[in-house]
Parts: sequence; structure tokens; C-alpha cells
Amino acid sequence: APTIRQLLLSPPPPPAACVAVNGWVKSIRRQKKVAFAVISDGSSDAGLQAVFTDINLAKNLTNGASVRLQGTLADSPGAGQEKELKVSEVEVLGECDPERYPMQKQALTVEYLRDHCHLRARTREIGAMLRLRDSTTRAIHGYFEDNGFIHVHTPIITSNDCEGAGETFRIAPSSSDASTSDAKPSEYFNHPAYLTVSSQLHLEAVASAISRVYTLSPCFRAERSQTSRHLAEFWMLEAEWAFTSSLTELCDVVEHAIRHVLRTHAASPDMDALWKQHPPATSEAKRAELQSYADAPQPWTRLTYTDAVDVLAAHHAQTPGGAFVFPPAWGSSLQSEHERWLADTYVRGPVFVTDYPAVLKPFYMRLNDSDGGGKERQTVACFDLLVPGMGELVGGSLREERTGLLEAALERHGLDKADYAWYLDLRRYGGAPHGGFGLGFERLISWMSGIESVRECIAMPRWAGRMLL
Ligand code: 4AD
Ligand code: MG
Repeated sequence: APTIRQLLLSPPPPPAACVAVNGWVKSIRRQKKVAFAVISDGSSDAGLQAVFTDINLAKNLTNGASVRLQGTLADSPGAGQEKELKVSEVEVLGECDPERYPMQKQALTVEYLRDHCHLRARTREIGAMLRLRDSTTRAIHGYFEDNGFIHVHTPIITSNDCEGAGETFRIAPSSSDASTSDAKPSEYFNHPAYLTVSSQLHLEAVASAISRVYTLSPCFRAERSQTSRHLAEFWMLEAEWAFTSSLTELCDVVEHAIRHVLRTHAASPDMDALWKQHPPATSEAKRAELQSYADAPQPWTRLTYTDAVDVLAAHHAQTPGGAFVFPPAWGSSLQSEHERWLADTYVRGPVFVTDYPAVLKPFYMRLNDSDGGGKERQTVACFDLLVPGMGELVGGSLREERTGLLEAALERHGLDKADYAWYLDLRRYGGAPHGGFGLGFERLISWMSGIESVRECIAMPRWAGRMLL
């Protein structure tokens, strides 16, 4: 049987041709002589209206039941749908007790749905989000394929903490009897190992031979921050390419990739379904906003960290009582209130902030030539992309390819050179200037769709304090 989406999009079948449809009952309305049900199979936001002129056929239907219907597809005289199925045969495949069904018709709170995340894909919003993840993934693959990048798979189990933030999950076998008798039960075959926080270092290894690579893969962080932007398991789009020494080029690739995704989605029915659920941002306003970022004159605003701190500090000083909880100061991290003000108010659009102080960033970022400010004022060739309503969406940098400087950076960060011997090899043997970035996939979905929290931008969210299923 075709999916409901295929059925609604394909050329009309000849009149009176019988079609079969599988799906779940979303709603049912019984009148004296006729009954109506909406059937959904998740293939699109639109369900299919089923019409039962013999109301006996509908007597065993309840919300949530899975069914196979046969009938003929016809133009619908009613409002709200173009086609409807005139049902001649019904088979209930799986019953659903309407008294006990946890997914009742009344509005279910976000918290309730998080507690029932095994059932929440049945809601309109999560369904639309899952299809949006799919189409966004396809758009991303399209962009990178068109630009000569090779899609690669990088390991999940690793010995490094790429970001050096101490947020790794350590892994170990649940029993040690499979390994040798002297195995340390808390380690991976007698070595410490972690779930990856970022594929970057491995991508760099592959880019050192394949030139342009990217991956979309899960990352794991023992995040202490319980915010609408943080998950313990999230997906990151990471790209890495060789033979670039230009931060401008890195930002260009990020910008073009996101513009491509925005253009692909400005007219998506799933986005419409999501936008409509989030007043006051109506579909039209949200579509216009995304379209304006996609069509804005190139490039999106770019300003250095130093300039960003200057405008933040000026705004803070001009605002009676101060504009921010954390006073902006050179050498301190930008807080999310700072990032939000830059994107929401100062630029009113996506903005790249570049060249952060070296002390705030991981060891691998390429040191800028000193601008005479001394060691404390040293910066690295990096950027964060901040977007309205969200803050940081992407982070990236040129990578330090000068062996001596990289060794010095490892030392500064208190990292053991021996652990990074393989990473230093990439520089020793035909090291090429290179760089890349990482984009949080759930943050992208949240930003485009207006879904408030990244916890609703993935089917089964993981974060501290929630039991897993
Ligand atoms: O800024 P981050 O930590 O950068 C890196 O990991 C680099 N190694 C990436 C690279 O250059 N290849 O993470 C990149 C992005 C962030 O901008 C954010 O969008 C997302 O990943 N991110 C998270 N998303 C959800 N939950 C979390 N806990 C996240 N941490 C980072
Ligand atoms: Mg970052």
C-alpha cells in the first residue's frame, strides 16, 4: 500500500479504483448516517480523511488504533482536505483502549510528553520535527556533495576529550569476565575510554588525506547546564577541510550551507505545521524571517570578539543599572545573555564573532599573529556563529598546523604530548593548513522551527535527571 503522503501527492487513481491505506486513527466523528475518521501514518503532516457511509464499518474504531482501510479516493466536498477515502472495508490491526490511552486528545504538556517519549512521536509536533530532521539532513548532504566534500564516519569510542572541558562520559564493560583476569573493570580493555564529545580530531586525520570531509554524528557531553540548548546526547554536523588558511572561507562555507538549508525549508509543510503552533510567530512572519536570513546580502555580519566586547561594554555602560548580569570584559567568555543581545538586538540576524582570546578556547585552535598586545591578549583564528533567539549555533576555527606551536599549546593546556602523538603526526607528515566547524543539529532544528527546547528536537532526548528508556 502507498503511504498517505504518496497517495495524496500522486496522480489521481482512476475513478472507482480501490486503494488500501495503513495508519492510526487520530480522531473519529460519528453522525447518524455517516462517520468520519482522520488516519495518519506519519508520512506527512496531513492525515487522510476516511468517510464511512456504512457507520457499522466504523463501530470498532477508537483513537490510536492501527487500521488497514480499503476504499476509493475521491475529491472531498468538505473544507480542510482535497481528497478523502470512501471506505468499503476496515481491518483493525491493533486495538487501543480509549480509556487507558495516555495520548488523549486534550493538549498534553511538554513535561507530560517528555515522560511519555516512547509515545510522543504520535503528536503532530514531534512528527513534523522528525520529518524536518530528515529533510534537513538531506539538504545538508546535498550541499556538501555539491561542494566536493566526502561524507565519512568517525568513531564514537575515543581516548581524547577534544574540547578539554571535562564533560566526557567514561565507558567500561558492564562485566569484566569477557576480558583477561587482570582487566580493570572500569576501563575499556585496560585503557581509559570515553564517548566522543566531537568528531573533529578524527575528521582532521581523514581530511589530511581526503581533503574535504564531513560527518553528522552523535556527540556526548556530561553537561551540567540544564538549558533549552543543551543535551547529554546530541548530533553534530562537522566539516573539516585542508588547504585553507582563511577564517573568511570557513565562515563562508558555514553561511552558504545554512542559507541552503533555509532556502530548502522556507516552503516546507512541516515547518508550517510547527510555526503555527508557536504564536505569536505566525507562519508568515517566521517564513519571512528565515527567508530574510537566506536572502540577506552576503556576507552575514562578522565582527571580532574584541569589537563585540566593545559594543557590549558600551551598551552595558549606557543602560541605567547595566544591561547584563555579567559585565562584559575582554578575556571573559561571552555569556548567553551577551550572545543573545548581539544577534537579537545589535545585528538582528546571524552574526559571526571571530578571534576569541586563546585562553578561552581549546588547544587545537590556530594562534593569530600577535597584534602587539602581549601574551594575555593573544587570540586564535576561530569563530562562533550566533543566531537570533538562540545564541551559539556553530563553532569553528583554523587548526594549529605548526608542530612547535601545537606542542606549546598542548603544554599550556596541561595535556600530555604522548596522548596526542598521532595528532602531531598529522603535522609532521605533510601537514597542510586546514580548518573546520561543528554545528549543533538540534539547535538548528530548534532555531528554524521555533520549537523552544532542543529536548523536543530529537526523538528520545537525553539529559541529566531523566531516566532513559
Ligand atoms: O562549540 P563546540 O563545543 O565545538 C566543538 O565541539 C568543535 N570541536 C567543533 C568543530 O570545530 N568541529 O560545539 C559545536 C556546536 C555548538 O556550537 C552547539 O551548536 C552544539 O555543537 N553543541 C550542543 N548542542 C546540544 N547540546 C549540547 N550539550 C551541545 N554542546 C555543543
Ligand atoms: Mg562552542
